[in-house]
Amino acid sequence: MIRAAEQSDLETMMQVEQAAHSHPWAASIMQRYLAKPNVCWVLEYQQRVVAHAVVSVIADQAELLTIAVHPDYQGNGFGKQMAQQVIEVASAAAAEQLFLEVRESNSTAIALYEYLGFCETGRRRSYYPTATGREDALLFALPLL
Ligand SMILES: CC(C)(COP(=O)(O)OP(=O)(O)OC[C@H]1O[C@@H](n2cnc3c(N)ncnc32)[C@H](O)[C@@H]1OP(=O)(O)O)[C@@H](O)C(=O)NCCC(=O)NCCS
Repeated sequence: MIRAAEQSDLETMMQVEQAAHSHPWAASIMQRYLAKPNVCWVLEYQQRVVAHAVVSVIADQAELLTIAVHPDYQGNGFGKQMAQQVIEVASAAAAEQLFLEVRESNSTAIALYEYLGFCETGRRRSYYPTATGREDALLFALPLL
């Protein structure tokens, strides 16, 4: 079941965030987005929050700010369900495009975005820190109209 996240989900969301990402968000950033309606979404499986996504809509542009599935639950279609929810939220808010940035090395996420119809629109060189240096961000966009 996918539902809007609540303040009480913060701790579980941060557990997912920290387990899934090499460079997770700080809890203070997640909390700031949790204060806004229809921005943070969680997926519950067997009464446990196992995935989340954060989508911001400003005017006619939407951005997927973060998405994560707990590693124990990856590869079960939950990431795809969350991404489809984000597309629905952005469409319902009348956004014309949905943007995101992804690490060039993140082939799983890139395969998912391409499956959903996103197209690569650009690159930010050396945008992300890695364990050993920096890597590029790829920019993807999905037209919604
Ligand atoms: C990226 C992520 C959200 C995908 O979630 P998931 O639940 O594992 O993915 P799904 O099971 O929904 O799979 C969706 C698609 O991703 C691709 N995919 C999933 N696992 C894959 C793997 N091991 N190798 C290659 N592609 C894979 C496939 O295209 C798959 O579609 P299919 O099942 O029809 O073949 C998840 O792996 C994750 O949280 N990763 C760490 C955080 C992260 O990288 N977030 C994205 C930052 S932009």
